[in-house]
Amino acid sequence: MSAEGKLRLGVNIDHVATVRNARGGAYPDPLRAAKLAEEAGADGITAHLREDRRHISDADIDGLIEVLTVPLNFEMAATEEMQRIALRHKPHAVCLVPEKREERTTEGGLEVAREENRLAHYIAPLREAGCRVSIFIAADRRQIEAAHRVGAEVVELHTGAYCDAHGEGDLVARDRELAALREMSAYAHSLGLEVHAGHGLTYDTVQPVAAFSEVRELNIGHFLIGEAIFRGLKPAITEMRRLMDEARR
Ligand code: PXP
Repeated sequence: MSAEGKLRLGVNIDHVATVRNARGGAYPDPLRAAKLAEEAGADGITAHLREDRRHISDADIDGLIEVLTVPLNFEMAATEEMQRIALRHKPHAVCLVPEKREERTTEGGLEVAREENRLAHYIAPLREAGCRVSIFIAADRRQIEAAHRVGAEVVELHTGAYCDAHGEGDLVARDRELAALREMSAYAHSLGLEVHAGHGLTYDTVQPVAAFSEVRELNIGHFLIGEAIFRGLKPAITEMRRLMDEARR
């Protein structure tokens, strides 16, 4: 398989920090998980520094910047505080996500169309600092066009609705969501955007998304960290990698 066609796997380590923070203290260590993920073939590490620091901490981000040999995809809300942190670290990629304190996880995509002006100004210095800017959005034409206009180089399509429908056994909704992801991946690609996808993906749901040739990267976390309890982190990632490569062939 050519490097061009290879589908990258970004491993999200947030929930190693969730387990650590359940007790306070130092273990399990998200940095150790990141290094193991690298050894297992992760092409990048994703970490979301939330405003409330419920999982990843500022010190985790400092540590990741120091120890990683693969690119860091720094997920953050489009706030001034996060922009300052990103400009200090200049990670390989910044992924802008919506964030609500009361949510358990990132519930939907960012409403780019509603705040184009602000986001265009927000993104410009990040790009000037050399960060690849990605925006996490729903598979929606309006949001893709707005992301393109505000200067994002990448869009990450939210796969949560597809995964939820699969989990609920609602095959009609699952196929509808998958069709939207397929169509919008092709559309975003046609505008010159790099297409990523993620949220809620598991061994059962990854392959149909991995098969879309326009998708260049999947970001997967919660399932892999959970699966690591049963098989260990490296084997859990290796199996995900295998399923992705199989779908790509
Ligand atoms: N991509 C983005 C932008 C996310 O916010 C998340 C969740 O933090 C993920 C991917 C990974 O989702 P999950 O942990 O459900 O695999």
